Amino acid sequence: MKKKSEELRSHRWYGVKDLRSFGHRSRTAQMGFHRSDYAGKPVIAVINTWSDINPCHSHFKQRVEEVKRGIWQAGGFPVEMPAMSLSEPFQKPTTMLYRNLLAMETEELLRSYPADGCVLMGGCDKTTPALIMGALAMNLPTLFVPAGPMLRGDYKGGFLGSGSDTWKYWAELRAGNITEQDWQDVEDGIARSPGHCMTMGTASTMTSAAEVLGLTLPGAASIPAPDSRHAQMATLTGKHIVDLVWNDIKPLDYLTPASFDNAVMTVLALGGSTNSIVHLIAMARRAGFNLTLDRFDELARRIPVLANLRPSGKYLMEDFYYAGGLRGLLSRITDLLDTTQRNALGQTLAQTLQDAEVYHDDVIRTRDNPLVSNDGLAVLRGNLAPDGAVIKPAAMEAHLRQHTGRAVVFKDYNDMSTRIDDPALDIDANSVIVLQSAGPQGAPGMPEWGQLPIPQKLLKQGVRDMVRVSDARMSGTSYGACVLHVAPESHVGGPLALVRDGDLIRLDIEGRRIDLLISDEEMSQRQAAWQAPAPKFQRGYGTLYLKHIQQADKGCDFDFLLPEGSNPEGEPEIH
Ligand code: FES
Repeated sequence: MKKKSEELRSHRWYGVKDLRSFGHRSRTAQMGFHRSDYAGKPVIAVINTWSDINPCHSHFKQRVEEVKRGIWQAGGFPVEMPAMSLSEPFQKPTTMLYRNLLAMETEELLRSYPADGCVLMGGCDKTTPALIMGALAMNLPTLFVPAGPMLRGDYKGGFLGSGSDTWKYWAELRAGNITEQDWQDVEDGIARSPGHCMTMGTASTMTSAAEVLGLTLPGAASIPAPDSRHAQMATLTGKHIVDLVWNDIKPLDYLTPASFDNAVMTVLALGGSTNSIVHLIAMARRAGFNLTLDRFDELARRIPVLANLRPSGKYLMEDFYYAGGLRGLLSRITDLLDTTQRNALGQTLAQTLQDAEVYHDDVIRTRDNPLVSNDGLAVLRGNLAPDGAVIKPAAMEAHLRQHTGRAVVFKDYNDMSTRIDDPALDIDANSVIVLQSAGPQGAPGMPEWGQLPIPQKLLKQGVRDMVRVSDARMSGTSYGACVLHVAPESHVGGPLALVRDGDLIRLDIEGRRIDLLISDEEMSQRQAAWQAPAPKFQRGYGTLYLKHIQQADKGCDFDFLLPEGSNPEGEPEIH
């Protein structure tokens, strides 16, 4: 049933007759708005993560105007609210350190201002989960505008993919196979338009997940950022959010465990980023659902990878869009999905996929010709990762699926950077490279260091993949036999902290195991001798982070932001 104006949340700011509301109205007039511009209308907070230092969102100055245009046209009152822009290429040590801060900022902006509903504008990796986590905590009517992928990179008549080709050509430069000029040409051509990374990295993975969860307009996630249809989607989103407010449709009305399963299956069929595991677990927990690592593994065993996109495959997001985009891909797995799940507009997934088509069978593969038949992701357990670890079998060399090798251990990132290319390093192609102190607390922030570099001397011998183990994450655009997210992490005394040079480590993808081949007795002795390192922060946000961050298998959310005990609609009455 449609809401009345007096039932709008913003009525408490604008509609009542008291001294505070006089201030709200007179200060709105100060900005040039007449009371007829807003009186009785839904106030829509447009949370915009534009920044001069975020190239993935550089079109958001224009897009926000298009969102606002839609809101005005539908009879709403748009209020743009800038929020912290987590810019993947620039923020040190990692944007992941700040994902929860943006989530908190989103929640508190929505709580403290007269928002009846919100449009979230993000896309660069952590911005998508962060904005959605914050919005789920407030549970106001919500729509997400994905930034859209940038155009393909261009280099010597071929295409370049964000991240994937950076790692590839960096390895070729270090191996002496390309010149400094070639490397410069790659630098100039790899990112040539607004938009997020155009491989199936974390950005494309998470915006696609947001679409399947029903938080965007159908088809929104695949549209390239510079395409005029992206601007149209932004305007339409503005129009729809006003209806959502009047009809009081909130995310927790339509999100279910089954819609999160759909999101996981989508990520798997896309060959998506391992980072999505941490983010989707955190998002599901904010919605009150206990999505587990084991659920990812269970689904991964039966979902084929159909998107032939880098880093697992060949093409880029622009090709994916022209081939039918996410809706095309989903139309090929409808029998696996729960298509009764609804989106923000009240449509079932079956309805939104009714006329979806695939126009290029090599970009979006058929079920009888998948890129990989299953195991897009795998969850490992064993004495090295009692609470789990993840790997992306689709993006590694097959001969390493069962592998035992000698550990070469680096105690932290600086140690690795200093010694990895030392010609005297005792390492060969069968060794297992181990990086400690790269997890949520250890790094801190669990950076994307997990694609540990292959030593230069081995690159020159033609080695391009090795088993690597860390408690870090890996960029969604990366590839290789990298065991990631080892939990508990080494900094808190997880078994990864106990590995020593020369220990044997066994990886078994089929058995879903990662084990340190030492006796239980030896493990206990090392555990007893282990000493906790000093915390990495002594003040500020960092201390809050260290005190409350959870491990990777729990989604790395802050323990105090979980739904238990919270009452999103129960904020104190504001006068
Ligand atoms: Fe923004 Fe990759 S750098 S999505």
